[in-house]
Amino acid sequence: MINRFYTILILFVAMALFNFGTKKKPYRAIEEGTILNLYDAFSKDTSLTKDFGFSCITKYKGKTILFDAGSNADIFQHNTTKLGIDLRKVDMVIVSHGHFDHLNGLDYLLQINPHVKIYFPYDIFWGAPVPYDATGQEPGVKDSLPRSNQYFDGGATKFVINQSGRFWKANIEFVKNAKDIIPGLKIITTSSGYMGYFSCYPNKSFVDGQFTQQKDDCKQTGLPELSLSLKTDHGEVLIVGCSHTGVENIISETKKVTGDTIDLVYGGFHMIPFDRKQTHLLVDKIKNELKVQRVAPAHCTGHLAFKMLQDQYGQSDLYAGLGAPLKY
Ligand SMILES: [Fe+2]
Repeated sequence: MINRFYTILILFVAMALFNFGTKKKPYRAIEEGTILNLYDAFSKDTSLTKDFGFSCITKYKGKTILFDAGSNADIFQHNTTKLGIDLRKVDMVIVSHGHFDHLNGLDYLLQINPHVKIYFPYDIFWGAPVPYDATGQEPGVKDSLPRSNQYFDGGATKFVINQSGRFWKANIEFVKNAKDIIPGLKIITTSSGYMGYFSCYPNKSFVDGQFTQQKDDCKQTGLPELSLSLKTDHGEVLIVGCSHTGVENIISETKKVTGDTIDLVYGGFHMIPFDRKQTHLLVDKIKNELKVQRVAPAHCTGHLAFKMLQDQYGQSDLYAGLGAPLKY
């Protein structure tokens, strides 16, 4: 009898210990009015993996919003797990632009939250519908070809290509113009003239036995970019991904579209390419001309700009490293 009692007791203790050892860390609640950096190359938290890329999460009027998803899906999974983020609770995702360091983590997110709404820039190289003209320079030639060689059996040669893109199964909306997602939460659209896609087809001239490209046929399409502006009592909180459009241009556009002042700019300012003089001019413009009250630089802002923003903004330069929640 006593032996049986001890056997049962040992079993209970073993089960309790097993449960204790395997108990899952509770998920962390994403608080209203807080932004948490989920992916970056600088941090105070040594348990997280630092990598160059960007992602952050916030909650606004009850909606959990993920902005970008970092460079590497495994690291994104590691960091979000360590931080106790339940990505199944994400209601919507904003992808700032089509660069790998902002979107590869979607591979992990879509495994566990496959139907989440994703707002993506209107980027034809990522699946946004693109009008295409396949008429060619000699439209009449079509009729000389057998029907089986004519596009769409001789149908229209101007059409829209509805591409699929890498995330073809995802619930993506390609955003062309600024729009409210919910009252107070606005997507800002800009296009980067510094980066983009280049096309130099066709109309080559044949001169002296060589094809020469006619310059006028070369067109550059700016890189489309999304930012997110959250209306608060003390002005807009603007989240930017990599600011390829120029952070000052995104700020100006946000002021124009919202008609509001900018309280805080959070994210990648993309100032790594600039020297001290250029950085100074830009920091000065952000603070004194555009009247941004506070900054929380991250990702591609760069060491020099981190330093100069700290010097200019003092207490109003807020820390936005990986794993550090920022109350706005
Ligand atoms: Fe980036």
